[in-house]
Amino acid sequence: VLIVFSNSVKPSDAEQQTVKTFSWAASVISSYGKDTYHYVGTDINIYECINFNEFADAYGAVMWPGALALCSFLENNRDMVNLEDKQVLELGSGTGLVAIVASLLGAKVTATDLPNFLGNLRANVMRNIRGRSRHIPQICPLTWSFDVGHIYPSHLHRFDFVLAADVVYHHHYLDELLATMSHFCHPRTTIIWANKLRIVTDIEFIEKFKKEFDTTLLAEDGDMKIFMGKFKM
Ligand SMILES: C[S@@+](CC[C@H](N)C(=O)[O-])C[C@H]1O[C@@H](n2cnc3c(N)ncnc32)[C@H](O)[C@@H]1O
Repeated sequence: VLIVFSNSVKPSDAEQQTVKTFSWAASVISSYGKDTYHYVGTDINIYECINFNEFADAYGAVMWPGALALCSFLENNRDMVNLEDKQVLELGSGTGLVAIVASLLGAKVTATDLPNFLGNLRANVMRNIRGRSRHIPQICPLTWSFDVGHIYPSHLHRFDFVLAADVVYHHHYLDELLATMSHFCHPRTTIIWANKLRIVTDIEFIEKFKKEFDTTLLAEDGDMKIFMGKFKM
């Protein structure tokens, strides 16, 4: 159940109201500057960090629905997607919820994003996993590019899973994103990508994703889809 409060200050019980329910949303309680989510039996406090300036977009500063969908999916499908002790890369981690949940599920997580967002990402991840996770996540800069192997050479960076939530939207780096996914997708790698599909370029990206990877639609709820991609032999 997604509970959204009418303003950003935690309201009294009487003011609380359920405005929307869908199958994979966690409970979330908003208070000023902080949201509390509940996954893997744990309260997870996420601070958003909207610090606009003319050079940076703010997409990584706030929570997106793909993150909630992916966290619920991972929590509820542990037999299908066993993250325990697995090497997991997340692309475009934003405020860090997926990285935290993967870590609580036992993964060895590398959470990545543009350099501007790493401070808030690191703070959210460390605050929530301390004393609760077997493996301490790595927080690293990673800009999607055709040349990502220059900084992340394949022989040093092998991942069992690549996770991504809402990384496809109206931006100019969709081809670079696909190239980055391909770079990290080896024969034993599984990509799990959750996205709310909004515009025609999102659909075009799916077609390119299907050409690049053996693709399965794992779950869907309206425009929210979760895809699995595997290396094409
Ligand atoms: C829509 S947000 C989603 C954030 C988070 N995954 C979530 O679902 O809440 C997209 C994320 O991709 C990151 N991003 C955008 N362009 C990027 C690029 N060229 N290279 C790396 N990350 C990028 C943004 O900083 C942001 O964190």
